[in-house]
Amino acid sequence: MVVLAVLGTFLITTLYSSLFDQKKMEVLTNANVIASIISDDFTEKNINDKLPQFPIEKNARVIVVNTDSVVLFDTYKETSFKDKMFLNDSITKAMLPEGTNSSNAFKDKEGDWFIEAAVPVIRNSHTIGAVYVIQSGDSTEEVILHIRNALFILGGLIIIFVGIFSASMASVLTLPIERFTKFINNMPKDSLQHVQINSRDEIGQLAEAFNNLIDRMAELEDKRRTFVSNASHELKTPLSIIKLLSDSLMQTENPDPEFIKEFLSDMSKEVDRLTRIIEKLLDMTQMDSSQQSMQFVHTDVREIVQEVYDKLLPLATNKNIVLTFNQPDDEVILPVERDTLTEAVYNIADNSIKYTESGGNVTISLSRDLGNIYIAITDTGIGIPKEEVQKIFDRFYRVDKARARETGGTGLGLSIALDAVKLHNGHIEVKSEEEVGSRFTITLPYSEENTLSGD
Ligand SMILES: Nc1ncnc2c1ncn2[C@@H]1O[C@H](COP(=O)(O)OP(=O)(O)O)[C@@H](O)[C@H]1O
Ligand SMILES: [Mg+2]
Repeated sequence: MVVLAVLGTFLITTLYSSLFDQKKMEVLTNANVIASIISDDFTEKNINDKLPQFPIEKNARVIVVNTDSVVLFDTYKETSFKDKMFLNDSITKAMLPEGTNSSNAFKDKEGDWFIEAAVPVIRNSHTIGAVYVIQSGDSTEEVILHIRNALFILGGLIIIFVGIFSASMASVLTLPIERFTKFINNMPKDSLQHVQINSRDEIGQLAEAFNNLIDRMAELEDKRRTFVSNASHELKTPLSIIKLLSDSLMQTENPDPEFIKEFLSDMSKEVDRLTRIIEKLLDMTQMDSSQQSMQFVHTDVREIVQEVYDKLLPLATNKNIVLTFNQPDDEVILPVERDTLTEAVYNIADNSIKYTESGGNVTISLSRDLGNIYIAITDTGIGIPKEEVQKIFDRFYRVDKARARETGGTGLGLSIALDAVKLHNGHIEVKSEEEVGSRFTITLPYSEENTLSGD
């Protein structure tokens, strides 16, 4: 509407000035022609003879005055100024010694347009009179009014058309978004559903992205559920054993002290187990929640492995297992979250000792090439069945539950180790053969920007 209004105003103004300019020129030319016709013989008689034959527009009034401003000729008969004094600005200008042609357009008090022109009548370079022509400009204005009305109608039509068009376009464009929003708002609180929008445009892409997000959320929710149910199950097992032991102890009349001691020792083991599980769970949630606050510090990875080695050596010696640490001579500097990485190496090496029979070997080797750092933990233990290798990293998963309980396992160690290694953008590879042994290799990428990003 603003554009139309500006354009319309500009057009009308231009039309006004150009049409009136043209009209002014026309009137001036007429006045000049008349002046030249009568300049030869500037007598009242001659003028009144000649001029009535000159084709003058109907609505034009021609007045001829002499140098005393007395009217010699007037086309208007009824209200004729003939023989009277007639003077106005234009005539005054024309009568000046250096007499000039002038013409202008003006509006009278009633709002009607007029165009006037005055020219001097000159003979032998003397001004001997003046010709004044005045003509109604109404017809010119009418033309402009016509055009203005047409513009108004056209503008109105354009506005209506554009309005309808853009309103319908807008609804076509926003309808899918509205449907989408409604769908999301109406989605049942306890379920995640895919939105059905099959268009190939941006909305379709948005819907696809939304559906992918829904899938990921469902997957996460699934993991969370499994975790909670596993965790509660794992916590319940030692509890029910304790309950069973204490119940049977209470029901036994006059139990002998040896019997009580055995039961209490079993119960204490289960309490230890519970504590271990809870500690691991806490470790895990800490890693989940404090990722932002983790501090990556340039550290010699040899120190980390050495720390694990020192901690595990008594355990291995106890079990008559030979624990070896092969390390490079040069330092192996990497930005790491020290506690997390230590925990990862510890959990894997601890397993190797746990799942290796007395008399076996466990070797930790630290090495590096241009791109990666490798921590390989090799044992001559019981090995892992092929079909189980992928599952051992799942939370609470243990290959053989009974044996794992015997060895004090929680099924959380490897899952914690994997999280920790992933935090360093690394991965863990497992090679294992039953009754022969296993090799766990932690690979940590060496490039700084990788390891420093932390996710
Ligand atoms: N070095 C290994 N040799 C044989 N089995 C292993 C080894 N490391 C892990 N496992 C198997 O993977 C399971 C998961 O390990 P982990 O998550 O550390 O739990 P756990 O608390 O039982 O040690 C173990 O219960 C065990 O069955
Ligand atoms: Mg373990």
